Amino acid sequence: MTGGPGNAIELRGIVKRFGSLTAVAGLDLSVPSGVCLGLLGPNGAGKSTTMRMLTGQTLATEGSITLLGHALPAQSKQARMAMGVVPQLDNLDVELTCRQILSIFARLYRVPRSEREAAVTRALGIANLGARADTVVRDLSGGMRRRLLVARALIHRPRLVLLDEPTVGLDPQVRQELWTLIAGLRADGVTVLMSTHYIEEAERLADTVAVMSAGQIIAQGTPAELVRAHAGREVIEVYGPPAELTALTAEASRRGWSHRRSGPALAILNAERLDGDAPAGVRRPANLEDAFVALTGEEIE
Ligand SMILES: Nc1ncnc2c1ncn2[C@@H]1O[C@H](COP(=O)(O)OP(=O)(O)OP(=O)(O)O)[C@@H](O)[C@H]1O
Ligand SMILES: [Mg+2]
Repeated sequence: MTGGPGNAIELRGIVKRFGSLTAVAGLDLSVPSGVCLGLLGPNGAGKSTTMRMLTGQTLATEGSITLLGHALPAQSKQARMAMGVVPQLDNLDVELTCRQILSIFARLYRVPRSEREAAVTRALGIANLGARADTVVRDLSGGMRRRLLVARALIHRPRLVLLDEPTVGLDPQVRQELWTLIAGLRADGVTVLMSTHYIEEAERLADTVAVMSAGQIIAQGTPAELVRAHAGREVIEVYGPPAELTALTAEASRRGWSHRRSGPALAILNAERLDGDAPAGVRRPANLEDAFVALTGEEIE
């Protein structure tokens, strides 16, 4: 987490208070250019508040924010023009066609007149909406609307794209479509900051995951690094009647084994370190969810 000119996003000592509530509590985060960073945290961790400070929708109480070299809030207009934002909620005008919406945004984002048509065609292509260019939003499926939101964010070829919970509440097929689009951005070297509370989303898409809890970044690394550091290589899942699991939980605590309740089972993390002491159970590779729970103490949906 070093600073420097290679970072598309720099947050230093960010605090955001709402009255007596501190939503963001001294957050430091750097996102190097070309990296897809997943901001992963449980409900209420402060992810959306952080994203809203980046998009200029709300001001930080303390700290400094730099986006593509533009300091906020003084240069928030320049920052906004240089990046693309995919909002969580669909705010598209249902009366307009895909092409009309993209043309309007091309103009708003100052794409030169002579290049607008090509920019619209390109954005339609990225979002795989070429065949729907002249369909009004009202007649698009949910997945198509989401893809149009991404196309709209990309109309001016931003080098930085922010997505707040890009797939929350979407059905699996639409989620998959969005993931393909985000993976494409990543492959093109666009810097992506995406907040999510879906482990799988972070695991699949992010080069780096920053785990957020209670308004701070509590761990950062590649998914594999986080798993190794906080859950080890192997997990043993022990299934059994509740009383047995409760007894085993007490034993795990006594012996200092890192563990968590995982549905009907007790999961013992770092199981490769236990040798002969290990309880009998199903061994499986540790995953990012194990690391997340170990770090935040929260189960996730
Ligand atoms: N406008 C506001 N006024 C008062 N409190 C707020 C406001 N916005 C957010 N908060 C509080 O700040 C904290 C962080 O909220 P935030 O929405 O940033 O969390 P989040 O990590 O995005 O959670 P989720 O996963 O549920 O979307 C919460 O306690 C929330 O109630
Ligand atoms: Mg949120």
